[in-house]
Amino acid sequence: MTFELQAECPETGARAGLLHTDHGTVETPMFMPVGTVGSVKAVAPRTLRDDLGVQILLGNTYHLALRPGRDVLRTVGGLHPFMQWDGPILTDSGGFQVFSLADLRKVTEEGVRFRNHLDGQYLTFTPESVVDTQRDIGSDIMMVLDELTPATVDEAEARRANARTVRWAERAFAHYRATEPHYGHHQALFPIVQGAVFPDVRRESAEALLQLDAEGYAIGGLAVGEEAEVMYDTVALTNEVLPQDRPRYLMGVGTPQNLIENVARGVDLFDCVMPTRNARTGTLFTTDGTVNIKNARFKTDTSAIDEALDVYHSRTFSKAYLRHLTKANEPLYMEIASVQNLALYLWTMRSMRAAILEGRFPAFRREWSDRLVQKA
Ligand code: GUN
Repeated sequence: MTFELQAECPETGARAGLLHTDHGTVETPMFMPVGTVGSVKAVAPRTLRDDLGVQILLGNTYHLALRPGRDVLRTVGGLHPFMQWDGPILTDSGGFQVFSLADLRKVTEEGVRFRNHLDGQYLTFTPESVVDTQRDIGSDIMMVLDELTPATVDEAEARRANARTVRWAERAFAHYRATEPHYGHHQALFPIVQGAVFPDVRRESAEALLQLDAEGYAIGGLAVGEEAEVMYDTVALTNEVLPQDRPRYLMGVGTPQNLIENVARGVDLFDCVMPTRNARTGTLFTTDGTVNIKNARFKTDTSAIDEALDVYHSRTFSKAYLRHLTKANEPLYMEIASVQNLALYLWTMRSMRAAILEGRFPAFRREWSDRLVQKA
């Protein structure tokens, strides 16, 4: 995997680049739709690629290890052929899911033992086993197992948890370098900077992980309830430590405004459930701002969902029709709403990239950062 930096904004930290993988090139900055169990809910891979311009998907090791499971994944040749997505895939390690979904969790130096949320069986994830599972999945970018802390953590606890995350990353890299991909394509491994909102712990984390000489770095532990400005400051100080010539991935973030503000601070890759999850509860992200499509004012609104986006679903169906579909619990609602929200996220990323390459990112940020989250 190689990362080619193409342009940097002279006034902010924004960058445009090309991330070359064995499954194709990702134009950065880029957003990765979340396909937790090997499907972006309600949207087929062809729509993602051809209609939305998606270039990389995110899968989840925790969920895929449970279903379909490692044996099935190995037998079918990994996730790419299984789900019919031949572009790059990044998998999260499952650290976040173990800490948010699983029960009776016990974290030791060896790893984390927990009862899974599906059938309650005990499982153990170690830094080595999650690399093995991601070898079975065949993701182009794998993530290390990390220890997450709650938003309310104090500095001493953040330092302790981060030290373990660093030791686990060292073990993950030793195992990674001692094992081979199963399917012939290269797999990168990214460590995850932790440290909650404590600048010194964040710096310690990033500096320790630099020793691993990874092909890219992730920033975790954010968007867990802290103020947006605190997240932005934490991202900015972390990116001062991370190498210029490697991609930086901010995990689990965020609103369209969060994307713009973090690109301004040097982030290259994002993922978030927000566009697809919020679609399911009626929240639509549009170029006119954020709306709840269930609102009575859309009852007879025959205007297109989002005329400004060059996407079939956004331009063809009316707000009134989409409101009717959700009221009637029609499955087609999920597809149209999910496509609209992903279209807006992908449009935001493409627009930022073009603005960075053309030297007008600050103007784009001024025009759109507030506008995309305002209630329309
Ligand atoms: N997804 C969102 N935040 C995180 C994080 O801190 N760690 C992991 N592994 N996944 C995440």
